[in-house]
Amino acid sequence: MNQKRLYMETYGCQMNVNDSERIVSMMAESGYIHTTKISEADMILLNTCTVRGGAEEKVYNRLENLRILKKRHNGLIIGIGGCVAQHEGDVLLDRFPWVDLVFGTHNLHLLPDMIETVENGERRSETSFIDNDQRLDLFPAGHASHRFSRFVTIMQGCDNYCSYCIVPFVRGREISRRSSEVINEIERLAASGVSEVVLLGQNVNSYGQKSPDQPRFDQLIRMVADVEGIKRIRFTTSHPKDMSDELIACFAEIPKLCGQIQLPAQAGSNAVLERMNRGYTREAYLDRINALKSARPGIVITGDMIVGFPGETEEDFEQTMALIEEVRYADLYSFVYSPRPGTKAADMVEELSKDQKLERLERLLTLQRRLTLEINLSFKGSVQKVLVEGLGKRPGQVSGRADSGKTVNIIADPGLVGSFVDVRISAAYQNSLVGELL
Ligand code: SAH
Ligand code: SF4
Ligand code: F3S
Repeated sequence: MNQKRLYMETYGCQMNVNDSERIVSMMAESGYIHTTKISEADMILLNTCTVRGGAEEKVYNRLENLRILKKRHNGLIIGIGGCVAQHEGDVLLDRFPWVDLVFGTHNLHLLPDMIETVENGERRSETSFIDNDQRLDLFPAGHASHRFSRFVTIMQGCDNYCSYCIVPFVRGREISRRSSEVINEIERLAASGVSEVVLLGQNVNSYGQKSPDQPRFDQLIRMVADVEGIKRIRFTTSHPKDMSDELIACFAEIPKLCGQIQLPAQAGSNAVLERMNRGYTREAYLDRINALKSARPGIVITGDMIVGFPGETEEDFEQTMALIEEVRYADLYSFVYSPRPGTKAADMVEELSKDQKLERLERLLTLQRRLTLEINLSFKGSVQKVLVEGLGKRPGQVSGRADSGKTVNIIADPGLVGSFVDVRISAAYQNSLVGELL
């Protein structure tokens, strides 16, 4: 019998990327080998995102395309999972008759069984939440394509209910994975040659806060740093209100913890932050930023901003711009506000037109492009340690990441993939640096 092939398409955040990696390794055990060519797929799974209206639309457009593929390929299985699936549920089976299965964000471990059902000619949808901390153990670790740097999910869900955000509704309550499980997985990764781990969660800073028998996040980082073979630790995403002094101290005391942090502000004005239900003020945010900068001089800070939140005045927006200048973000993920069904902000009155929101976004992006380039240029001449992760885009180049998370391209032998090298930065561009081997 021919091997069956799985094509996996992933949208949204790193949590979804990690879930997809896990799905791919789980399905290998059910006889589906992973393919990157959609034309040879026997099964196509979409792992979806619904954080903004545009993300959801993208999924529906994609499903329309897949209808044609399904007509051409008899027996092709099409499944939709992740956050759109969680939000819409089995309605998707009615709306898209060519979709065979719908799986929610807590139901990934059911996939092998669901696929068996589908192979027997029935359609199936599973989107119930499982709210206990063992949920995260139901599911095996993934074998990812990057061999040296790997994601490790340490918590899932979110209890923060920022007023604009759909994530708590589609990922459920915040649950931390037991530290013994986390450390076991990292030990296994290290034994297989992984030298960098990226700890993942919607709000990693509140790791363990709900379970008195678990370490706090700063303590977990220290445990990870003690794992033999792990040379670099990163984490994402952080919430400013849970950015404790103990966690900031880790940046001063643990060299393995990379000098990089994603700390989304979302807005620069207190009035907007309050309506967003973010739980901190502009002043408290800047206090955390300054503490981070003193704990680890030169720390690279990235963030997220939402432009055109309901009620955002020109003055509010100017405060966002001023905050960006003051923090000097190395990079920003910024989007115009998009109302999401079921969230509190969806009931707030929107006064700005789409064009006004886009005009503000453009001003913000122009400012951020300048800062990014300035920061990249400031690395010129410096010596950086780079973990070479793969081949570069151009022939003769390899590519990797500096401690700061910046991508560095180096003219060097492909044999260096997987090792740490010292380079001198010789050129800097908008999206990457160029280094020369020392
Ligand atoms: N847990 C992370 C990220 C959550 S979603 C955190 O708290 O930072 C990723 C980003 O999408 C958010 O940081 C926010 O900037 C953006 N986002 C979420 N909901 C949005 C909405 N309704 N409209 C526009 N952007 C949104
Ligand atoms: Fe959404 Fe806020 Fe939770 Fe982040 S912290 S996932 S923005 S509700
Ligand atoms: Fe999107 Fe779900 Fe992540 S909505 S941002 S994929 S948690």
